Amino acid sequence: MQTRKGWSGPLKKMEEKILKEGKILPGGVLKVGNFLNQQIDTPFMKEIGEEIAKMYKDDEVTKILTIEASGIPIAVSAGFAMNLPVVYAKKNKSSNISGDVYSVMVHSFTHGNNNNVMVGKEYISPDDKILIVDDFLAHGSALYGLIDIVEQAGAKVAGCVAAVEKGFQLGGDKLRKEGYRIDSLAIIEEMTDSEIRFRK
Ligand code: G4P
Repeated sequence: MQTRKGWSGPLKKMEEKILKEGKILPGGVLKVGNFLNQQIDTPFMKEIGEEIAKMYKDDEVTKILTIEASGIPIAVSAGFAMNLPVVYAKKNKSSNISGDVYSVMVHSFTHGNNNNVMVGKEYISPDDKILIVDDFLAHGSALYGLIDIVEQAGAKVAGCVAAVEKGFQLGGDKLRKEGYRIDSLAIIEEMTDSEIRFRK
């Protein structure tokens, strides 16, 4: 198992942490609860936020958009580093979201369910340039849903950042072919029961 040659800092660290702390579950699922999904490694999360800020420093981003729940820590870390507000899309009905909302149905391949994903219209305006952030990019349903919401608002998508892209589930490459800027901190090209290989 190898990490990307010549890479340093949080990008290399993401690959190293996946190899050391990640657990491969059946169905092509990678468990990263130890540092990303349930327990948050806060110094590492801070570095991730700073790395995202470096990637988008010249892109005039006005706001960061993510989806509950696991995208929030990464988006907030990037928000601190970029001094930008973070908006998160809510799933299904919620008593504390009222009035006019942008909404889209998002199918989860991993969980086999559909979620009606919503953002209050007051939080995105046509003059926004939005950076979309999430923890995993698999088939791309969550990112397509968030892009749809940004486009419903008449705002622009600056790009999308995923902490971990599962390249073998093809969502990232499909989005890139459609012209979206997709920056993933680690891209898993292949994952067997016992081995993980990253994209070079
Ligand atoms: P997609 O959005 O890229 O199409 O992915 P998919 O439908 O397969 O994934 C839906 C949910 O599963 C997302 O979380 C996503 O972050 C998570 N997920 C996908 N693949 C993996 C994986 O290999 N490991 C882990 N840990 N999570 C994965 P969600 O339903 O939005 O839930 P939440 O955890 O953010 O609350």
